[in-house]
Amino acid sequence: MKIAVTYSSIYGASAYYAELLADKLGIIAQDLNDIDKLDADVLFHFGGLYAGTINGLKKACSLLPEDRLFVLCTVGLADPGKERTRDEIMKLSGKILKDRKYKVFSLRGDMDYSKLTIRHSAMMWALVKVLKAKKNRTEEDEALIETYGGKLDFKNPDAILPIVRFAESLEE
Ligand SMILES: Cc1cc2nc3c(=O)[nH]c(=O)nc-3n(C[C@H](O)[C@H](O)[C@H](O)COP(=O)(O)O)c2cc1C
Repeated sequence: MKIAVTYSSIYGASAYYAELLADKLGIIAQDLNDIDKLDADVLFHFGGLYAGTINGLKKACSLLPEDRLFVLCTVGLADPGKERTRDEIMKLSGKILKDRKYKVFSLRGDMDYSKLTIRHSAMMWALVKVLKAKKNRTEEDEALIETYGGKLDFKNPDAILPIVRFAESLEE
């Protein structure tokens, strides 16, 4: 069973988790930007959530033949412990992964407003403006408004363990 691990990471959180998994499996995590083909039976792809998109998902999907297992590991700020977050991620990933064999894991990343690109800063500014004008704000909306401009870090090395166990179960 040949396992490959790839990541598409803008600020490093997906790369961090991909490298943790690859280390545990004794392989190297590859940046999806650096590869055009893949030789694997199973692919674990780590990609950040960006306003309704999953970074690298389309490309990673295109590199793995349809009959192989695709394991998507999303990394975002929203709490995957909440059903709403999980539902949104499943909806988003289902649109791209459609009928293929796949499994989804979701992890929490980080965000340092001082490091955002100009485009991302503008997107966050616009989002917070919309949220402030919203009447029935959710807990997440409030949290985003409160933490706007700061530094958040929800990365947790232990969060990778269920993914490691799943990968190991494929090798047995
Ligand atoms: C413009 C922008 C949009 C984002 N959209 C979402 C989102 O829809 N859901 C979410 O959970 N996190 C969102 N995030 C947070 C990122 O997913 C988070 O920073 C993640 O750690 C990025 O992973 P990466 O560094 O590997 O690219 C967004 C961040 C930015 C800058």
